[in-house]
Amino acid sequence: MNKELVEEKLKEVMYPGFTKSIVDFGFVKAVEANADGVYVEIDISSSAPEVEQELKDEITKKIQLLGATRIDIVITKPKMPKQSSSQGKNIAPHVKNFVMVSSGKGGVGKSTTTVNIAVALAMQGKKVGLLDADIYGPNIPRMMGLDKQQPEIIGNKVKPMLSHGVEVMSMGSLMEEGQSLIWRGAMIMKAIQQLLQDIMWGDLDVMIIDMPPGTGDAQLTLAQSVPVTTGICVTTPQQVALDDTERSLDMFKKLHIPIAGIVENMSGFICPESGKEYDIFGKGTTQPLADKFETIVMGEIPIEPAIREGGDNGKPIVFHDPSSETAKRYQEAAEKLWANIEQINEEGGVDNEAIQPTTAPGVSACSTTAAAAPKEDKGHDHGGSGGGCGCN
Ligand SMILES: Nc1ncnc2c1ncn2[C@@H]1O[C@H](COP(=O)(O)OP(=O)(O)OP(=O)(O)O)[C@@H](O)[C@H]1O
Ligand SMILES: [Mg+2]
Repeated sequence: MNKELVEEKLKEVMYPGFTKSIVDFGFVKAVEANADGVYVEIDISSSAPEVEQELKDEITKKIQLLGATRIDIVITKPKMPKQSSSQGKNIAPHVKNFVMVSSGKGGVGKSTTTVNIAVALAMQGKKVGLLDADIYGPNIPRMMGLDKQQPEIIGNKVKPMLSHGVEVMSMGSLMEEGQSLIWRGAMIMKAIQQLLQDIMWGDLDVMIIDMPPGTGDAQLTLAQSVPVTTGICVTTPQQVALDDTERSLDMFKKLHIPIAGIVENMSGFICPESGKEYDIFGKGTTQPLADKFETIVMGEIPIEPAIREGGDNGKPIVFHDPSSETAKRYQEAAEKLWANIEQINEEGGVDNEAIQPTTAPGVSACSTTAAAAPKEDKGHDHGGSGGGCGCN
C-alpha cells in the first residue's frame, strides 16, 4: 500500500458541514501504509460524536477503494465542555456563561466597560468571547484594535477574530466601514441569533455581550436565545443617567436575569498632571440604586484621557497600563463578576424558559399588539407609552 495514494484519498474527505477537506484544514496528523494495512491519525476541532462517526465512515470508504482491508483510524478531539448549570433555550451551547452589558442611556461607556472587563477576565485565565450586539453602533472592532481586520469565512460560518486573548465578533466587522443599516424588529432578532449561532465561537467560559443602549428587541432576543447568566449595568453618576439606569435594571428583573452589579463610569476626574480628583458628573451616587435592586457597585471608573485614547487606538487600558488605578478597578470589577457567575451556577444557574416568544419564528416579539406579546410580557419595556418600542 502506497502512503502517497492514501494521502491523496484523504484530500477527498470533507470535514462535516464544510466544503474543505480534513487535509486542507490540517487535521491529518499521521499516515502510515504498509502491506499489513493503513493507519490514519487525525485531530479535529469538534467534540460532537456524530462528527467523529461521519469522518470514520468516510475515511474507511475512501481507503477501501485502494484495496486496503485493515484500516486503523484514531481520532483525537477536544473534551466535551463542562455544561453550566443553566437551563432553557441555548443556541450557543458550547458557551458556558453569558453576561449582558446594558445601559439606560447611550454614550455612558458601555462598550469601554465591556472591552476592559472581557480583557481583564482573559488576563485572569478565562476563555472569553466578546460579542458586539450593538448592531446600530458597533464600536468593539476599533476598541479592540480589529477595525482593519476582516474575519475569515469558512463554509457558511465565520471565525471570530482574536485580540488581547479574547475571541471577538461584531456586525461592524461584517459590514463595510461607515455603512448604515436600518434595522427592523425581525432583522434585529435574526442578526443577534446569527452572531450567536453562525460564528465559530470556541468552548468559552464566558461570553461578554455589548448591547445597544436601552431596552428593546436586541435585549429580548438575546435573553430568549441563550440563558443569560448575569447582567451588568453601566451608568454615569448624574441623576438623569440614573433614571434611565433604573429602567435597565428593571428589564433584567423582568427577564429573570440576575444582576452582577452596576459600573459607575466617568465617576470623578483624575487630573493627569496633579493627580487631584474632581467631581464632574458627581461620584458615588449609584449606591442607593444598587441597594434598591439588591446588587453592588462593581467599580467606580474615573474619567481619564487614557481610557478614551485606549478606546480610540484599540489598546484597552486594563492590558496596556495594567498598573494604573483604573486598570486595577477594572480587574476588581472582573473578579466580582466572576464570583457572581460562580455563585449563580452553584445555586443552580438560570433558566430562560419563562421568556420564550409565542410569536412565529422571525416575527418580532416587540409587536405592539397584545396577541404578539411574549408569554411573560413583563419581560419587555415598551417605554411606558403603551405604543410598543418602535422597532416594528
Ligand atoms: N471613564 C472614561 N474616561 C474617559 N473617556 C471615557 C470613559 N468611558 C468612556 N469613555 C469614552 O467615552 C466615549 C463613549 O464611550 P462608549 O463608546 O464606551 O459608550 P457606550 O455606552 O458604549 O456608547 P453607545 O451607547 O453609543 O454604544 C468613548 O469615546 C470612550 O472612549
Ligand atoms: Mg457602545
